[in-house]
Amino acid sequence: MAIHKILVTGSNGQLGWELSQAATAYPQFEFVFVDRNAMDLSNPTELGGIIELFAPDAIINTAAYTAVDKAETEKELAHTINAEAVAALAGIAKKRNIPFISFSTDYVFSGNASSPYLTDTQLNPVNYYGQTKADGEQMAIAANENTIIMRTSWVFSSHGNNFVKTMMRLMKDRDALNIVGDQRGRPTYAKDLALATIQILIAINAGAVVKGIYHYANTGETTWFKFAEKIKEFAGLECELTAITSDQFPTPAKRPSYSVLDTQKIEEELGLQIPQWEIALKQCIHQLIHS
Ligand SMILES: NC(=O)c1ccc[n+]([C@@H]2O[C@H](COP(=O)([O-])OP(=O)(O)OC[C@H]3O[C@@H](n4cnc5c(N)ncnc54)[C@H](OP(=O)(O)O)[C@@H]3O)[C@@H](O)[C@H]2O)c1
Repeated sequence: MAIHKILVTGSNGQLGWELSQAATAYPQFEFVFVDRNAMDLSNPTELGGIIELFAPDAIINTAAYTAVDKAETEKELAHTINAEAVAALAGIAKKRNIPFISFSTDYVFSGNASSPYLTDTQLNPVNYYGQTKADGEQMAIAANENTIIMRTSWVFSSHGNNFVKTMMRLMKDRDALNIVGDQRGRPTYAKDLALATIQILIAINAGAVVKGIYHYANTGETTWFKFAEKIKEFAGLECELTAITSDQFPTPAKRPSYSVLDTQKIEEELGLQIPQWEIALKQCIHQLIHS
């Protein structure tokens, strides 16, 4: 059955919002966006009844508990939203025999590697948020072998809370900032991730078999410090930036020091050309300044 009606959770999040912006260019699909009020993932047992009302042909779950530091103390809620609810959605999709796409994170990995993580690299999260996302992946695939998991990293957008917007605000307010310079990763523009997600739906409608784990992040890698330097340059801001170590910036949740995702699988299987992160960042900052 071709996908027409798509239910998207987390409509107020970065990715959910970017999907809603991108959706208008794809009139072959009818997107239905739901926020936390319409569909609360902290009540997994209620999800089946709500989804039945919408009767979608596919489910995209962008909703998540994303407060990485708070997850260290709000463990039960984080696990319910990121693991139990994801498994419940996967099970519902299996019963309805419809595609299910959910998102995960580079934080499922240890951070000890020195070459990009493959989709089948062993999981070993260093914080509780990463643990909930790793559990969510495994529980969803166990509930529904056709589950599609898109791991992504360092997400930014002109909408919602993220590093780019925080940096721009702080750089305007302060003369100098210290930024962690010893964590490496791949920034991801939620707009590009939204477009890649729609490409998955198009590929499925064209007969492609898409299932299992994929990685998506913009091309190239950097550190938070170098990311901040580019934000400063593209936004035309004045602020003195100093690189510090993770030890100098303690947080409740530990961060992996190396979290570069290898995206070759999705590039090859879907024929995707992933934009470079600096180009994506420039577009996002342009959108922020001119909208
Ligand atoms: N942000 C990153 O850097 C990053 C990195 C790697 C992976 N990811 C993953 O990528 C996906 C998209 O992330 P994002 O950046 O778009 O996240 P986001 O901007 O934090 O948005 C998450 C959304 O989930 C919603 N939500 C939270 N609890 C909920 C609940 N109980 N029921 C229903 N909705 C709930 C939030 O609702 P409210 O608006 O009402 O709070 C918010 O709209 C997530 O799976 C995330 O784990 C993100």
